[in-house]
Amino acid sequence: MGKKEFFEQMKALGLALTYNDVRLKTSYSSVMPDSANIESRFSKNIPLKMPIVSAAMDTVTESELAIEMAKLGSLGIIHKNMSPADQAKQVSRVKRHLNGLIDSPLLVYDDQTMQEVLEMREKLNLSFHTFPVINRQGKLVGILTENDFDFCSNYSLHVQEVMSNQLLTAPENTSVAEAYKLMLSRKKKVLPLVDFQGFLKGMYIFSDVKRIITGSSSSYNVDARGQLRVGAAIGVKNDALERTKALVQENIDVVVIDTAHGDSLAVLETLKEIKSLYPNLDVVAGNVSEPESALRLIQAGADGIKIGQGPGSICTTRIIAGIGCPQVTAVYNCSQIAQQYNVPICADGGLSYSGDIPIAIGVGADCVMMGRMLAGTKEAPGDLVFRDGRQWKSYRGMGSIGAMQEHKGSRDRYNQRDASKDSMIPEGVEGLVPYQGELKEVIKQYIGGLKRGMGYVGAGSIPELKEKSDLHRISPAGQAESHPHNIFITKESPNYPGSV
Ligand code: XMP
Repeated sequence: MGKKEFFEQMKALGLALTYNDVRLKTSYSSVMPDSANIESRFSKNIPLKMPIVSAAMDTVTESELAIEMAKLGSLGIIHKNMSPADQAKQVSRVKRHLNGLIDSPLLVYDDQTMQEVLEMREKLNLSFHTFPVINRQGKLVGILTENDFDFCSNYSLHVQEVMSNQLLTAPENTSVAEAYKLMLSRKKKVLPLVDFQGFLKGMYIFSDVKRIITGSSSSYNVDARGQLRVGAAIGVKNDALERTKALVQENIDVVVIDTAHGDSLAVLETLKEIKSLYPNLDVVAGNVSEPESALRLIQAGADGIKIGQGPGSICTTRIIAGIGCPQVTAVYNCSQIAQQYNVPICADGGLSYSGDIPIAIGVGADCVMMGRMLAGTKEAPGDLVFRDGRQWKSYRGMGSIGAMQEHKGSRDRYNQRDASKDSMIPEGVEGLVPYQGELKEVIKQYIGGLKRGMGYVGAGSIPELKEKSDLHRISPAGQAESHPHNIFITKESPNYPGSV
């Protein structure tokens, strides 16, 4: 029996299933897990080198995590519980994180005080410290670097008193390779490019140039300009228009219409409007869980669809509203429609272990979106909480009472934009997740699990995993057998957190 027959039988029984209900069948394999190709897509024009995307949640994805996700080959979706201007700044931090040629670097004037520069850095939330210095005639006169900030003991000094004016410059058409050679030979970390009159025309940073020349960025997810890829959540109607305008100015790669009910008039109209205003911008829409809903989004122009209504670890939508479809069935059904139109599917929420990733993809997803499984990482927003002898990080639903009371973005997601504090109907909870350390170590385990799964199924690539996967439905006894049992675990495994 193949996967199609499996789901037909379940449909005849009126049964919808989720991750814990199934396991993939093993099959003859010549695939070595480590060599499995895990490249995929988030949307029609946004490729992924690994199929895990971080959720647009205020305890998961801001610029710090998005930068690491892109460096790991994937994508982070910056949440929208902030003003459009602040969200655009977050995007800008990701896009400016590495650069080949920085064609319009942020400048400072030689007669500004260091305090003014410091305030600008804080206001723009900048992570870098290198600024070319120009005079009021617009000519390059010096450079401010991290050292100048570190060793400046008096911030009322003018930039010209602190900056270094021993400049190495190069002509404006200098290539990356020429820049690398020059910077290496002169041991300079910054190379401003100037025209014959001394006006600044661009800038190279050694670490970026070196990364490009030595190919150490080949695993990063970068756009055609060599900048890290990033996505951002938008709402509907005016919010969507305002945000998209600001995000496009920062070269956003993809926007996600992020709502709890994607098959609604406001989402469909917003999707059509954004696609007509920005035909070259990929727009992913969601969330839905029924194939007819996926079809409506595709017909309205969606470049990717997000599946998941209530599967998330912090979600209470299914409980408080009584709606929704368990995730494995939802992904399978929606993917049957989406694949006819070549539109990628993202399985959003509800994953508990790395083994759920090959299942999500095996039943038709092109990638998965995670909230809880990334919320405990060092790069996720929020401080560490110390409790019961352990370190934790906060994680909350975007529809939780806290998120909705604090942010319009959350109220919009749950269609309660005008609700007063006492009349809000939460659709999520707030809590703590164990601190997990660095994102790259966590992702290593998730990808390791995915690749193991591919090896067992005999799938050398994501399309093959989708095609070859077949399922067993398992009983509660089978599920209990799948977990460690009859043993007192004495050592926690990095990919099997025992207690939470
Ligand atoms: P996981 O299971 O990865 O789920 O933690 C993350 C996804 O859950 C969705 N989300 C919510 N759904 N109420 C809901 O019903 C909420 O408060 C809520 N907050 C987030 C969202 O799709 C996310 O990617």
